[in-house]
Amino acid sequence: MARIEFRHIEKRFGDVMVIPDMNIDIPDGEFVALLGPSGCGKSTSLFMLAGVYLPTGGELLFDGHRVNEVEARDRNVGIVFQAYALYPHMTVRENIMFPLRFKKVPPDEARARVLEAAELVQVSELMDRRPSQLSGGQQQRVALARALVKQPQLLLLDEPLSNLDATLRLTMRSEIKSLQRRLGVTTILVTHDQIEATTMADRVICMNKGEIEQIGSPDDLYLRPNTLFVAGFIGSPPINLVDGQAENGHLRAGEGTFDVTGSLPRRVTVGLRAEHMRFGDAGMPGRVRQVEPMGRETLYEVDTDIGTIRVLEAGSTAAHRIDGQVKIAFDRGDTLIFDSDTGRLVPDAHFAANGSA
Ligand SMILES: Nc1ncnc2c1ncn2[C@@H]1O[C@H](COP(=O)(O)OP(=O)(O)OP(=O)(O)O)[C@@H](O)[C@H]1O
Ligand SMILES: [Mg+2]
Repeated sequence: MARIEFRHIEKRFGDVMVIPDMNIDIPDGEFVALLGPSGCGKSTSLFMLAGVYLPTGGELLFDGHRVNEVEARDRNVGIVFQAYALYPHMTVRENIMFPLRFKKVPPDEARARVLEAAELVQVSELMDRRPSQLSGGQQQRVALARALVKQPQLLLLDEPLSNLDATLRLTMRSEIKSLQRRLGVTTILVTHDQIEATTMADRVICMNKGEIEQIGSPDDLYLRPNTLFVAGFIGSPPINLVDGQAENGHLRAGEGTFDVTGSLPRRVTVGLRAEHMRFGDAGMPGRVRQVEPMGRETLYEVDTDIGTIRVLEAGSTAAHRIDGQVKIAFDRGDTLIFDSDTGRLVPDAHFAANGSA
């Protein structure tokens, strides 16, 4: 097991700067998720940890020791790639055994470790099959066993669930999570799926264009996003974002004027989560434009003075119809106000009244 540190890590490919200055400290045994959109540098970060890519600047530390120049095979890192890349001509047993081939592990011990890894992920019944004779979920488990057989000090998972159907993904999500707890191995999961990140990891590192936007617990990112990017990336349905201006100590958005606490920059963006909006007797008037039943909840789109607002209400039966007149209420503490120019949260700024226009 290991503590992992990125110290001013930089990665360029020729002239292309992919990661300008990355700083992360991951304590021993933690499960973190690297979350961000396609192309933001998630796999590049993993490949540097695995020893596939050499950073072009900065230091990578395992337990306080610099590993920049340490060869991949000497790092004791287990990795599961996105397209789990089992060797098609090998059996499950041979696939799991493979990482031990270059290690001086006595044959008896190697066999025992292969069996142990297979049992951990419940594929010991399938040892003589080839990958083509396995389901996607079984292949996924074999790939995980292959990553675990070395008893790695660091486990890297690059979009490990992306090829699975929704049900299997749910099962594997909780299996990987409990396996990680049991083994206590420092684990980094790469994903662009916010639900996967927040359900599995202790801490989430939210990345955008090679930069870290925020590191925090799933709750931190949801309740206290540092930036507009994080607010928009975390949460489903996506947060309502409304442009506004500060005017004589008030906030003007569309046709609405609101009292606010805290001082504001000139141009602001107000974030209102759909699940924090509710219909009431008082509040911001609006007209229902769209109704989407979503099983246990119903999502409404409502035209208001400040624009179209999504409202998520419990219950599968719609309480309001299209074109119905409604009033939207919310708690002032749930409003997030961002500086539109910098994209950063304005701490302590909230609406002063409970959602009245
Ligand atoms: N070998 C390479 N040479 C040049 N550019 C590269 C190379 N590898 C990656 N890049 C670029 O670096 C950026 C980050 O790529 P990376 O694979 O880390 O993204 P990612 O976050 O894993 O995305 P995805 O979610 O699509 O897998 C991309 O713009 C990509 O085009
Ligand atoms: Mg990738």
